[in-house]
Amino acid sequence: MAEFMGNLRRTDMCGTLRMKDVGREVTLMGWTQRRRNLGSLIFVDLRDRSGICQIVFDDTTESAVFEKAESVRSEYVLAVRGKVRERSSKTDKIATGDIEVLAEELKILSEADVTPFEITDDVNVNEALRLKYRYLDLRRPALQRNLFVRHAIARAAREYLDGNGFTEVETPMLGKSTPEGARDYLVPSRVKQGSFYALPQSPQLYKQLLMIAGFDRYYQITKCFRDEDLRANRQPEFTQIDIEMSFVEKIEDVTYPIEGLIRKIFKDAIGKDLGEGHFRTMTYKEAMENYGSDKPDTRFGLKIINCSDIFAGSEFKVFSDALAIEVGPIRGSIRAINAKGLAGNFSRKDLDATVEYAKTLGAKGLLWMTWQKGGEIKSSFSKFLTEKDVAAIKERLDFKEGDVLFFSADKDYVVFNVLGGLRLYIADKFGLYDKNEYDILWITEFPMFEWSEEENRYTAVHHPFTAPMEEDLDIVEKEPSKARAKAYDLVINGQESGGGSIRIHSREIQKKMFKVLGFTDEDIERKFGFFVGAFNYGTPPHGGLAFGLDRLTMLLCKDDSIKDVIAFPKVQTAACLMSDAPSGVDEKQLEELGIILKKTEKD
Ligand code: AMO
Ligand code: AMP
Repeated sequence: MAEFMGNLRRTDMCGTLRMKDVGREVTLMGWTQRRRNLGSLIFVDLRDRSGICQIVFDDTTESAVFEKAESVRSEYVLAVRGKVRERSSKTDKIATGDIEVLAEELKILSEADVTPFEITDDVNVNEALRLKYRYLDLRRPALQRNLFVRHAIARAAREYLDGNGFTEVETPMLGKSTPEGARDYLVPSRVKQGSFYALPQSPQLYKQLLMIAGFDRYYQITKCFRDEDLRANRQPEFTQIDIEMSFVEKIEDVTYPIEGLIRKIFKDAIGKDLGEGHFRTMTYKEAMENYGSDKPDTRFGLKIINCSDIFAGSEFKVFSDALAIEVGPIRGSIRAINAKGLAGNFSRKDLDATVEYAKTLGAKGLLWMTWQKGGEIKSSFSKFLTEKDVAAIKERLDFKEGDVLFFSADKDYVVFNVLGGLRLYIADKFGLYDKNEYDILWITEFPMFEWSEEENRYTAVHHPFTAPMEEDLDIVEKEPSKARAKAYDLVINGQESGGGSIRIHSREIQKKMFKVLGFTDEDIERKFGFFVGAFNYGTPPHGGLAFGLDRLTMLLCKDDSIKDVIAFPKVQTAACLMSDAPSGVDEKQLEELGIILKKTEKD
């Protein structure tokens, strides 16, 4: 494929020319990164998606061409023909730093106004402005690279799945609500006024129906929509690599083949070899108890240690209150982490700041104990500590000179959240891990249900179609909080990159599941009657999972913001600053939909 601009035909990309090209006549097309005019010499840095090349216009250049070059400004689009020559002042700042192109012909393909910000990776302008002019922001090499990696991931996934007998099938965007736990985006129906489609939170129900339909192995790279609070790794619309397989029973029937997919993605997209052998597996319980999270970052230690028994008879109200907690199946505990060797970094002021940070994680407070090198043990709760307590703490937490401990006492899930969050905070602050490393593990044996204090009932941890572990079939109804699911998440560097489960394919078990969740027959019929009905006609055992393509891209690009891996992302308020969506609509459109807007006070 070649591009022609009049008589000029693009021969090369800007970023690809090297010493071996010296002497060749080339034609490049791209944007003007910058133009420097030194009187008898004009330099233009020409940029395309592959990189930058220096173009020179000198006293050998035809005067008409030279004059044209004088009129070039930043971001003008040019076509340049000329000869590659060795550069007199080489630079290793750019890949083409050994050469330059002496221009013979120049075509200005498009002029450009002064851009609202400079197109460079060390751009220092606020994000809102960048997002308003996203098409300019996307000219920056860093963002382009992210999108190339994203493309490479999707391509690797397609190649792998195609090669393993998976068929890509599209499922509807206009459908019924899928129970993934977030709020739906609704689309009003014009034809059936007062009725709404829900945009898919995932293709979950459809992909299971495709298994019942006999497709055996399905995948789809597709948009999902969730109206939930946005964070650095969440967007209201995002993309899943969604997968489902029939005739699978054990967790490994899904996770093992998927490891091949992840290996190929890493290799193809960033050239990273993940080596041989299966990925590590950790149970949910182990992850929570040690790391306070179901997506543990295990690149560093700082493990959480249970100290409840040490303080069992304590008169300290913070401790006795925590140990007395009993809300549904929820219990309380006292746990701690030991930031080994970091006591010297925690002045009294730092300790206070850490307590405040813990409060942002939902803590009512945080207790500390420090043992400065050559000093004495000090603690924020010394008046409640006996010598025996201190001895027990030393042993349990391997507490030595130079260490600092943090204790949290509360409902288990609060303690895990607080100490789990504190682990990450301390590790980040003191650089306790290698940022270039990839830490990949499966988390399994998730609980089936979690107790919702708000609703005073159980809710599904994954979704209501996840199968319980065989060993726990009997306790699904009797002790729901103890029942474990055949579910799995793939955690990479402390982020959930994907997850799924073996599904229920027995009508009996599905009924039990709905019963524990408190769904009435009416609820079931109304919400997913069509889906449950399909199970009456021959359902293969099946299971699957979905990866967040955006999250995988973030991880592979080592980028902290999901916005940086999406071409046209939304901000915190779920708005697009470039197109100004969401926005008002014409009265006529509302009328057609039978919608009357409630007047607000502002009106
Ligand atoms: P789950 O809800 O865990 O499972 O989603 C799968 C993966 O999708 C990504 N993800 C998101 N990425 C960006 N923004 C969001 N708002 C967002 N929400 C989720 C995450 C997550 O791991 N149907 C099931 C899968 C299955 O059981 O097969 C599902 O959707 O990377
Ligand atoms: P208070 O009783 O709230 O004045 O707190 C007394 C001390 O205990 C303070 O140092 C608090 O930071 C700490 N504290 C309070 N609640 C908790 C808790 N749930 N876990 C750990 N420390 C706590």
